[in-house]
Amino acid sequence: MTLAVYPGSFDPFTLGHRDILLRSLKIFDQVVIAVGVNQNKKTLFTANERVEMIEKEVNEIKLDKNNIVKVECFEGLIVDLASKHNAKSLIKGVRGPVDYDYEAQMAGMNTVMCPDLETIFLMSKPEFSFIHSSLVKQISLMGGDVTGFVSDSIKNQLKTKS
Ligand code: PNS
Repeated sequence: MTLAVYPGSFDPFTLGHRDILLRSLKIFDQVVIAVGVNQNKKTLFTANERVEMIEKEVNEIKLDKNNIVKVECFEGLIVDLASKHNAKSLIKGVRGPVDYDYEAQMAGMNTVMCPDLETIFLMSKPEFSFIHSSLVKQISLMGGDVTGFVSDSIKNQLKTKS
């Protein structure tokens, strides 16, 4: 069984994240979605809320019989979580040059800490390349319509926070 870890803040999980997950599942049998908890970073949704929201999204996906998706939160280094799962691959979605610069730095440092762990970059599809969780939150909190950026279920969760 091939396994990859897909880490992120997912505050909230967008249609772009969903697309990266679906494409990862064509490459790997199992994907662990790792919801990052950073005590210094303020999030709109708690870690548990983010995990529950993503689990709901995943339950609505008709998975191939070989595919397994798990969702969990983690605190600390992603290399340690990958090692706990014996994962050799990290999945990262890249929307453009700004993401690339940041992700390349993290991939480089993770490779030094854990040489056996490969970061697999998937380019966002053009229709998702502009979706940022932070902008989705801003639009929703200001009463805008976030249809097309997140699922209906997450849209409703966002409304509960405004
Ligand atoms: O959605 P984001 O903000 O791109 O997610 C960032 C996340 C949680 C994936 C990243 O910050 C992370 O991997 N945090 C874990 C801490 C860590 O391993 N830091 C060293 C990376 S070089």
